[in-house]
Amino acid sequence: MDVAVIGTGYVGLVTGASFAFLGHKVICHDVDKAKIEALKKGKITFYEPYLEELVQDLLPKQRLLFTSSLEEALAKSEVIFIAVGTPTAPNTGAVDMTYVRQVARQIGKTLQPHRYYLIVNKSTVPVGTHQLVEGLIQQSLSETGTEKVNFAVASNPEFLREGNAIEDVFYPDRIVVGCHCSQGLALLKTLYEPLIEQKFNLPSSFPARPSKMSKVPFVQFDPISSELIKYASNAFLATKITYINEIANICDLVGADVKDVALGMGLDQRIGSAFLKAGIGWGGSCFGKDLRGLISEAQQRGYSPDLLLASLKKNYEQRYRAIYKLQEELKTLRGKKIGLLGLTFKAKTDDLRDAPALDLIERLLLLDSTVKVFDPLAMEELQRLRPQWPLVYEQNAYDLAEGCHGLILVTEWEQFLSLDWQKVYELMKKPIIVDGRNFLDRQRLEEIGFVYSGMGR
Ligand code: UDX
Repeated sequence: MDVAVIGTGYVGLVTGASFAFLGHKVICHDVDKAKIEALKKGKITFYEPYLEELVQDLLPKQRLLFTSSLEEALAKSEVIFIAVGTPTAPNTGAVDMTYVRQVARQIGKTLQPHRYYLIVNKSTVPVGTHQLVEGLIQQSLSETGTEKVNFAVASNPEFLREGNAIEDVFYPDRIVVGCHCSQGLALLKTLYEPLIEQKFNLPSSFPARPSKMSKVPFVQFDPISSELIKYASNAFLATKITYINEIANICDLVGADVKDVALGMGLDQRIGSAFLKAGIGWGGSCFGKDLRGLISEAQQRGYSPDLLLASLKKNYEQRYRAIYKLQEELKTLRGKKIGLLGLTFKAKTDDLRDAPALDLIERLLLLDSTVKVFDPLAMEELQRLRPQWPLVYEQNAYDLAEGCHGLILVTEWEQFLSLDWQKVYELMKKPIIVDGRNFLDRQRLEEIGFVYSGMGR
């Protein structure tokens, strides 16, 4: 099947590469010409395990093409995915639909008569976007006087985690589609057929198929419910994390260990063990944006979603608990050297969007601490984002530890587990560590002599 993907950001590129791997002919479009030129050479501008390898494997097979011409992208394509950015609008918390609107209008100007097209919203978009896109395309068709174009608009949200996109896209829990048009639904089913049936094999160096996996549920809804499923899922996951963080804070007060509490809770199949890791709160490009998006959807219709509002507020408060814990040990942080182990919002990504580290650094600087930072992937990104911050950028965890009065583990990078912690201990001025992800071996650190403080343990 011939497929176009509009937007080669994170979602677009993963979507395009996966459909190409499954045997379709995919052409990815972006207005950023430099990005397209880089992609044609197999270079991607962000870090995602296995993705560059996948793109480089598909390029010579001519199954994955890149273009900055929308005409070229749509020339043969029956199915057109819209995967452009939908950031949060400044001040209002609503979703900024500028790019989706632009793309919908341009698609409308490019569609050809006597053909059928299915346009699919892959970006996370407000409820009702399928109607908006349909209306804008229709408007462009009228403006250009193009007649006899047969098209439908569907919703097909993605559920990819950064750092795990390949597992999530090839071994999904479900494929959600919302489409009123039976011809469109049939196209989507054909497109996803190899994935539904799991009829493909990734290279042996890639993540293996989960052992219990067989067919993937392909679930059809009306487009509005499909659009809401994405928001509701992310808001639920974010709230689940905030819930366990709340329990962690209570654990701190009563002397329980939140890891054990989460283990005991998660064994109840109604609760499940996923997303019960307490810490300094969630970050990243999705949870905050989607929670705000859902809240805004409700408020625009006169409903106050108090649970979601509390969930959002509590998450941002949670970030500062790592600092309160340092203050408990050090009294004042003025003039103290504090090191941040890791900066990204989670491991296996170089993404700093809405990363707790940014709030932590800002607060530490306000408290007049000297802030040292180290992250395996995100140092340049931090310098780019906050060039004005007077930070000490270190090349490794040992240089970071040297002379510090306290360390905060911000990101659960695997490599931090195998550090020579005895050496870290000797390098520090005061051996205080706040484990913001409950990630390190507490017993071992305490045996060395560290003052260890976890989140809820
Ligand atoms: C999320 C959703 O999981 C994904 O389905 C959606 O499409 C996009 O948003 P992502 O933001 O990439 O994906 O990362 P995820 O792995 O979900 O983690 C989000 C944040 O929650 C991270 O900061 C992570 O550290 C934190 N987290 C996650 C916890 O604090 N505890 C947990 O138990 C799980």
